[in-house]
Amino acid sequence: MKFIQKPYVIIGSGIAGLYTAIKLSEKTDKEILIITKSNLRESNSRYAQGGIVGVLPENTRDSVDLHVEDSIKAGAGLTGPEVARFISERSAELINDLIGYGVEFDKHADRKIELTLEGAHSVNRILHAGGDATGRSIELALSSLVENNPRISIYKQTLAVDLLLDSESRCKGVIVLDKNSGNYETVFSSAVIIATGGAGQVYSRTTNPSIATGDGITLAYRAGATIQNMEFIQFHPTALDFEENDSRFLISESVRGEGARLKTPDGEYFTCKYDKQGDLAPRDIVTRAIFFEMKEHGYQHVMLDTSEIPEEKLRSRFPNIMKVCEEQGIDIIKGNIPVSPAAHYIMGGIKTSVFGETSLQGLYAVGEASCTSFHGANRLASNSLLECVVVANELANLLAEKETEVSVSNADCQIGCLISLYEKNKFDYKRDIATLKNTLRTAMWENAGIVRDKDGLNEALRILNDLKLDFNQPYKCRDAEEYEFRSLLTISELIIRSALMRKESRGGHFRDDCPKTLPEAANSYISKDSAFIAGNCCDMF
Ligand code: FAD
Ligand code: SIN
Repeated sequence: MKFIQKPYVIIGSGIAGLYTAIKLSEKTDKEILIITKSNLRESNSRYAQGGIVGVLPENTRDSVDLHVEDSIKAGAGLTGPEVARFISERSAELINDLIGYGVEFDKHADRKIELTLEGAHSVNRILHAGGDATGRSIELALSSLVENNPRISIYKQTLAVDLLLDSESRCKGVIVLDKNSGNYETVFSSAVIIATGGAGQVYSRTTNPSIATGDGITLAYRAGATIQNMEFIQFHPTALDFEENDSRFLISESVRGEGARLKTPDGEYFTCKYDKQGDLAPRDIVTRAIFFEMKEHGYQHVMLDTSEIPEEKLRSRFPNIMKVCEEQGIDIIKGNIPVSPAAHYIMGGIKTSVFGETSLQGLYAVGEASCTSFHGANRLASNSLLECVVVANELANLLAEKETEVSVSNADCQIGCLISLYEKNKFDYKRDIATLKNTLRTAMWENAGIVRDKDGLNEALRILNDLKLDFNQPYKCRDAEEYEFRSLLTISELIIRSALMRKESRGGHFRDDCPKTLPEAANSYISKDSAFIAGNCCDMF
């Protein structure tokens, strides 16, 4: 095993990781290492379509108060009001920063920034780039800066597999696997930043790419960090419905923001039956409306009717969506896109402050892997990219002020023991991970998905326990595929256990057997030692 030391280690190269690296490099003169398990640009961030929220001073119809109010309403009682205000107040400054880094947001002919609308926003406040390629535009601008920065080094195709914790529960570094050579390396650092994104791959239907296996949340949980609100998964209403695939193409909510409407294959516009905001109600409501229509009438999907949007608008705003639909033989100008819900975003994650601090010293988290309480039980569209950049900036400020003492600490017995487990080769027989993964993802979709109940959740837990008996690799695994499966098992268990604890329906968590929302809103927490909902200790397990 090779050993190195770095003042700052960032795991993940989505917008959260890249932004943290750039900001740190501006505020300190120390070295930064980014570890990323695929190529530099592959991430959930890259696929973001709709855009990023900006409360811009020139948008006189908007205000921080209004954005905070919308975020709190969507969050169904669990959005922290001070957190929402903190993030919203910084949005205009961070958007300016992005522009300074080379992101070209779309503009009207008079050079004013175009702002679009998405579900549950009271006003148009979403900036977009490249029409429907906002994530790709931001990711490209930031990754180019990182690649040209001599103080930032990058380990590509490298997987973080375990965190080093000393005997006083301080994070001291990370063990990584080079996927190409199969070699392990220990990186010692007193500031390890998890920016590993979400976990959509836990479900058989998801808009997330294959990297989204919840590795960072798993690493933090294994290390003993507090994990919050894992029952809250956001299912996007409109993923393109074509043949089964590991990842489904998204049809952005901003298509509805520009006037598209959902209808059944029989031609009935149905969303107003479920909420007066109709097609632009909060995501959880629109998703359940589609789910119930599909279930009641046996539809395989519903249709998104884009025929009311002028052709020119469709071409300029949604070039990417248009291209992918065309490849599937769908003409969006004529107007009927087959869509159905898919897992999209995890509101829960590693509990952090708005400065990215976790419950463990030396361990930080930012982006979708974290849970600041901004999104509560249901994230407002386009608030995620905003949270990534605001918290990354705050985290960089915080770390720049701290002393970074980096020492090789394998003399600590706990760290030494962990490293030795990764130096041995001890495997049982090789499993067919693809089959095990399919079993898990299908079980999660069917039993811990959009509509849940106790029996279904227990069935998911039973299948999960069987899989755990079959795949018992607590430390060193054979390869990256096994590590990712280990993460999927951990994330599934955290979702199921949290969903069983919450005996109510709220935001993205809907239980058919407890459809009411309890009067008192409370976050749920899980760590290796305990699981509870704030204010009400739980005896579920
Ligand atoms: P990611 O961008 O997912 O980056 C995670 C990084 O971590 C990747 O580089 C990955 O390879 C790396 N990684 C993971 N595990 C490991 C490991 N073990 N070792 C090393 N590296 C690892 N949000 C919005 O606000 N607006 C939108 O318009 C929008 N549209 C979306 C559209 C789609 C299709 C999807 C999937 C999401 C969308 N979202 C949107 C959500 C948003 O894109 C994500 O929440 C956000 O980009 C997450 O950024 P991140 O940097 O935290 O994680
Ligand atoms: C979308 O474009 O519909 C996705 C936006 C988001 O997830 O915030």
